[in-house]
Amino acid sequence: MDWGLANRMARMFSPGSQNSVMLAVDHGYFMGPTRRLEDPRATIAPLLPHADALALTRGILRTCVPPSTRTPIVLRVSGGVTVLQEDLSDEDITVSMEDAVRLNVSAVALSVFVGSPHEHSSLVHLSELVDQGEEAGMPVLAITAVGKELEKRDARYLALACRVSAELGAHMVKTYYCDDFEKVVEGCPVPIVVAGGPRLDSDQAALELAHHAIALGAKGIDMGRNIWQSDYPVAMLKALRSIVHEHATVGEAMDILTQEKARPSRATVA
Ligand code: R5P
Repeated sequence: MDWGLANRMARMFSPGSQNSVMLAVDHGYFMGPTRRLEDPRATIAPLLPHADALALTRGILRTCVPPSTRTPIVLRVSGGVTVLQEDLSDEDITVSMEDAVRLNVSAVALSVFVGSPHEHSSLVHLSELVDQGEEAGMPVLAITAVGKELEKRDARYLALACRVSAELGAHMVKTYYCDDFEKVVEGCPVPIVVAGGPRLDSDQAALELAHHAIALGAKGIDMGRNIWQSDYPVAMLKALRSIVHEHATVGEAMDILTQEKARPSRATVA
């Protein structure tokens, strides 16, 4: 791995745990103003200092994130379709590598749609992006998108999608947690981070998901709705950090969540 690419990778993963807590706020690129992400600036600001990386689009980066931030950026560079379409897989590359470099991001991310009507083009896009990433020293994160068919999220499917992404040169893969998740990890030679998916029944359920994923070999999380749709997003992010970086149990993470919930907000302290 070239020094520049390795350096960008290292920015996102803690030198201690070697894991990463990525905060995903890229949902608007196909879902529009998602609940509790209607005002991205307000959602992002309190969470930014507690994330190891921030995953978003260039439009939200340029308008809602201060350039003084020290938080590494994972830039989504695929898109072109919205939830109004039945088939979400018809994505193209929407950002040039030159612009990603200009934005000084730490990685670029695209969705791959294995088994979907546009499987072929999404995998070719991944391969081309890896070529450009190797040239520019830019890591590529492949996101194993499942479109609207959530039932596809079984280990057999996700292991296939992750392995294909790694074979085509992705430097990291974002996927979903599933039963037999260790099989997904086992077959994928690059780091895996897990998305949270739609908001679960409780904060505890999201902590359990993260705990299981880390215990079975994930190198981190890249989570959105289960953080910022929580009533206590900062507390939730801190509790997740304890799991990802300190291998806290779910019980210990719940204790952190409870303590953080009780902490007065900055506005109250002032
Ligand atoms: C889809 O919009 C993106 O890939 C998200 O970044 C990903 O699904 C993670 O967000 P969440 O935890 O809300 O699923």
